[in-house]
Amino acid sequence: MVESARGSSETVAPDLEAVRRRIEALRRAIEYHNYRYYVLDAPEIPDSVYDALFRELLALEEKYPQFRTPDSPTQRVGGAPREEFPKVRHPVPMLSLANAFNEAELRSWYQRLQKLLPPGVQPAFVVEPKIDGLTVVLHYRDGRFVLGATRGDGLEGEDITPNLRTVKQLPLRLPVPRQEDGTLPQVPVPTYLVVRGEAYVRRADFEAFNEEQRRRGERTFANPRNFAAGSLRQLDPGVTARRPIRLWVYQVVLVEGMAPFTSHWEALQYLKTLGFPVNPLTRRFESFEAVVQYCLDFVQNPPDLEYDIDGLVIKLDNMDLWETLGYVGKDPRWAIAFKVGGEEAVTRLLDITVQVGRTGVLTPVAQLEPVQVGGVVVSRATLHNEDYIIEKDIRIGDHVIVQRAGEVIPQVVRPLPELRTGDERIWRMPSRCPVCGAEVIRPEGEVAYYCVNSSCPAQLIRSVQWFASKGAMNIEGLGIRVAEQLVAEGLIRDLADIYYLRLEDLLRLEGWKEKRARNLLQAIEESKERPLWRLITGLGIKFVGQVTAQTLAATFRSIERLAQASEEALLAIEGIGPKIAQSVVTWFRQPQNQKVLTKLRQAGVRMAEETPAPEAQPLAGLTFVITGTLATMSREEAKTFIESLGGRVTNSVSRKTSYLIVGENPGSKLQKARQLGVPTLSEEAFFRLVRERGGPSVPNP
Ligand code: IVH
Repeated sequence: MVESARGSSETVAPDLEAVRRRIEALRRAIEYHNYRYYVLDAPEIPDSVYDALFRELLALEEKYPQFRTPDSPTQRVGGAPREEFPKVRHPVPMLSLANAFNEAELRSWYQRLQKLLPPGVQPAFVVEPKIDGLTVVLHYRDGRFVLGATRGDGLEGEDITPNLRTVKQLPLRLPVPRQEDGTLPQVPVPTYLVVRGEAYVRRADFEAFNEEQRRRGERTFANPRNFAAGSLRQLDPGVTARRPIRLWVYQVVLVEGMAPFTSHWEALQYLKTLGFPVNPLTRRFESFEAVVQYCLDFVQNPPDLEYDIDGLVIKLDNMDLWETLGYVGKDPRWAIAFKVGGEEAVTRLLDITVQVGRTGVLTPVAQLEPVQVGGVVVSRATLHNEDYIIEKDIRIGDHVIVQRAGEVIPQVVRPLPELRTGDERIWRMPSRCPVCGAEVIRPEGEVAYYCVNSSCPAQLIRSVQWFASKGAMNIEGLGIRVAEQLVAEGLIRDLADIYYLRLEDLLRLEGWKEKRARNLLQAIEESKERPLWRLITGLGIKFVGQVTAQTLAATFRSIERLAQASEEALLAIEGIGPKIAQSVVTWFRQPQNQKVLTKLRQAGVRMAEETPAPEAQPLAGLTFVITGTLATMSREEAKTFIESLGGRVTNSVSRKTSYLIVGENPGSKLQKARQLGVPTLSEEAFFRLVRERGGPSVPNP
């Protein structure tokens, strides 16, 4: 008997069965391409082809209404308007998060946590961006999206299922196909799954929408968050369907019919394989110190994101401990939000000095009457630039509001003009560099003033200090004072000179004895082996902080490849926007920078990610595509196996494919491979190739 579409027992006539199969194939293909487009941002087919598939499915569902289902991609256009939003009770309370506004608060959270952890537990942590959107709670029964709710008061939310169905990044069926032919990843699907995530709108989409509304004289929204919330709370899902709502999923709330997760990180990886969008800036750390470093760097050098975030969320990875740790009020003890935008205090602005940065930028610095802000005494704060001072009308002698956010340099927020005595003085940027006396210019369209002298010692000193800092090459003993001395004595004329310092040079300097000199040289020597991202950070490329450097190192794996990357290639990376992309390309184009790189390489500084010894990478440089069913492994296993040997697996055959591995019942890829002249391998031949290249004969279980 043929299986019926609805799962009931009536027999479907053979031609209807073919229709059902075509409908199913179309749905899988559409789900797959939808995923490529909206979740991976890497479409494989032109929109016109996607539209044709979609239209064919619509027509078939129109003609054969018995095959319509609520999880068909056609349902994403929005159903009938509703009268109200029914209330839904959450399966467990949707907790909120406590905040840490600075490093000290973050550390005291960890200290409290440590006391509550069972003895002997090594905690790990996951850090995620805190998305500024609207919480959504998504329910899946047997892999089908059945209910979606807002957070409401945490206990009860509103049922906005029809609206959420229109969100293209939200999977309607799990798992989402990983191949055009509808092949599903080999993962268990729970009988019941509830996940939590954040619906949001990208800034550019928000602005385009408002622009259009303005043109039509209609209502605009105040910010992307309101826009997302307003769009999801539409009684007519057809309206929601036309709004560019996106989704990040960050939590498994409930899982039935599967072992519970013991690691939050693993839970997120699992959600990713099911086809959920999981934020790529999510990181796992095994030490709390690393968490702190990451958080501090993140707020100081925030990546260029297309959407708003309001900090980071730090979660204990050990999910099995969550329940016993419990919560305080509405906040779980196992997580905390690290927020940017913190505490304030009032003090007097005594003077404004100018600091010359490593890019030559002149930054006005407020010299303050010392004041406590968030538990720390502050006596200096940034004033950003001259425009900021003019716009806020900040004068020397003013009482000012000072703010500290995270561990970012404190800033002067605004003056309190009502407290003026009349003795306050207006300040303007000097016309000469306070360090070298060279001319100061302000390039067209920029707010910053620069010292024109590219060998201005102030710039070099700051560059050296940055290069050697904890967050970059971590050279102990090479702080700002030593950098000043080495530059002043002419021992360092560019960054690479750090690696050419000799004992006798150091011994000639004031205050240097043999022990100190040897220690510094030793620290410099050790820094040669630092991971690639530290070197990338240290180079001091504008807008490239630790976080971006890590992304770049992971993507390009060597300075050489990074240096050759085009702006387009950089822009294709999540977390890299036009500002960073342009800055990177420009940096590597400068002859003086190329010279520094050559000198660094010659000095023996590691310029690439450490790769396992060549014999462990027998498939390095080869790209495989798999078609049909393999006898000894699932596709996922084959992929893991190939990748563990240094090879790559992609989904579609192109001229760049090295081999197509052909299993039982191959699909259209075989034909494509033949057309392009890509060599094919049977499963057996594939294993032979691996053995010939010195790899293992079978994958490790
Ligand atoms: S975890 C109990 N993770 O922030 C766990 N929340 O202030 C609580 N949010 O209502 C949620 N990004 O809407 C978590 N990566 C993330 C988040 C996140 C944004 C929101 C969420 C929550 C609010 C708490």
